Amino acid sequence: MSKIITRRQFLTYTAAGIGVTALTCAGMGAFATHRPVDIQYRKLAANRNPANPVALVTYASKAGSTMEIAQAIALELENRSFTVDICPIQQVNSLEGYSQIIMGSAIRMGSPLPEVNRFIEEHCSEFQKIPLACFAVHLQHDGEDEASRKARVAYLDPIRNQLQITHEAYFTGVYDPAKVTPIERLMGKMVKTPVGDFRDWAAIKGWAQSIFSNSPAARIEMESVAL
Ligand SMILES: Cc1cc2nc3c(=O)[nH]c(=O)nc-3n(C[C@H](O)[C@H](O)[C@H](O)COP(=O)(O)O)c2cc1C
Repeated sequence: MSKIITRRQFLTYTAAGIGVTALTCAGMGAFATHRPVDIQYRKLAANRNPANPVALVTYASKAGSTMEIAQAIALELENRSFTVDICPIQQVNSLEGYSQIIMGSAIRMGSPLPEVNRFIEEHCSEFQKIPLACFAVHLQHDGEDEASRKARVAYLDPIRNQLQITHEAYFTGVYDPAKVTPIERLMGKMVKTPVGDFRDWAAIKGWAQSIFSNSPAARIEMESVAL
């Protein structure tokens, strides 16, 4: 049975259709600009040397800059006498067999990402026996004055309060508005987050070397040179 609609009904449906289309496009636009980063488990050491100590480099990253810093640290350690596994924090099952852990997190809303806390809770007893180096990736409080230093050191308090940290570092990261959600972009504008890549690769590599120089891997390397 055909149904004739009135002019008023036609106009109402048309307006509703335009509204839904506009909302859908806006939603898809938001998705298009918030591309989730493909963070994959990567074992650097395909051919393990059983004589080498094994380090785990693990990270919590939202937009990818912390992951890339973790990769640089892992490569630096692997260039020395470490065998290195690198893995996003959510995918680490066990700490067994590691003689050094390097754990890094992006800082959001003044804290490491929530998966860091879950990871510590899950593996708390295993952590006790393994030296732990931690790094935070942030953008605020990067000055050399005492107030800035205090504020950034506080970023690792949630970890420091639960575990002993042997080495720590604070690296300035990246802010790319195209890699955050529309709400986060708005917040970034409100707090005037600087846009750009502020990573200091020399400082990152230097820190990785400082971990190495106090490690069992360094002793092995020195012994092999002495032979
Ligand atoms: C929503 C949001 C909140 C942030 N909060 C902080 C913060 O509280 N303190 C800070 O120093 N940096 C903050 N940042 C900057 C990030 O720490 C920085 O962009 C970092 O490089 C992100 O790491 P990722 O790329 O691994 O996610 C924030 C960034 C975003 C997008």
